Amino acid sequence: MDEGIGERYLRETRHGRGHLVGGRMDWARQPSWFKTYPEAPRVALPPLTPGTEAASAAGLFDVLARRRSVREYGPPPLDLEELGGLLWAAAGVTARQMGFAFRTAPSAGGLFPIEHYVVANSVTDLEPGVYHYAVLDEALELLRGGDHRLTVARAALDQAIAAEADAVFVWTAVLERSRWKYGQRFARYIFLDAGHIAGNVALAAVAMGLGSCQIAAFFDNEAAALLGVDEDEEPVVYMTTVGRPAGG
Ligand SMILES: Cc1cc2nc3c(=O)[nH]c(=O)nc-3n(C[C@H](O)[C@H](O)[C@H](O)COP(=O)(O)O)c2cc1C
Repeated sequence: MDEGIGERYLRETRHGRGHLVGGRMDWARQPSWFKTYPEAPRVALPPLTPGTEAASAAGLFDVLARRRSVREYGPPPLDLEELGGLLWAAAGVTARQMGFAFRTAPSAGGLFPIEHYVVANSVTDLEPGVYHYAVLDEALELLRGGDHRLTVARAALDQAIAAEADAVFVWTAVLERSRWKYGQRFARYIFLDAGHIAGNVALAAVAMGLGSCQIAAFFDNEAAALLGVDEDEEPVVYMTTVGRPAGG
């Protein structure tokens, strides 16, 4: 069988004995751990609490058993506390040790290359728009106000679900954060990191009585343009739509 880009990517990022891909870290060129938009208007999120009433009512195994991709959403819209809870599940800092800010989801090398963006379509007390999540401050940074339902749905390979959801989480990977340590093997790790994060969000949604659907079918350039990120250095890697399941 002819080698395609997928096989080539796996082959070229293979570790072998005596041949580790990447593995040399230049501390003088360590990329920044966090991305912030200092000029952006900020929305502080209500303090989240792993033990909100809904979250503590649902045991983990019950949540696992009930998780299903939800593609139809109904009123009322998500509120800010629920959005904050989902973001905390995605990126909440749970421990600080040795200069690391460890989070709810694991990350290869503790490098946390994934950045968190939210397209807010319909969230109570939140202006619709494209936001970036400032992890350390638990705040949303408004990058672009306005109704972006159509644009996000178009970017999501024309899937209407992205327009109908109350919010769409869009995850990018800052490649250098991972490549700095792992070289080309970064290409394996960023998707695993994103998967852990999306899994957390999907489970947190169930625990809070919400529904979500993972989206990996998207037009990369359109998704990057919506966020205003550099497709080559900070590509979009994953999305998740969130809302209240239709019919309760
Ligand atoms: C990597 C990945 C990509 C996905 N992309 C999409 C998508 O673009 N659109 C969609 O409607 N569902 C998408 N899904 C949801 C799957 O269709 C769904 O998880 C699968 O059918 C199993 O159903 P369940 O999630 O209800 O268990 C995706 C799921 C994963 C894990």
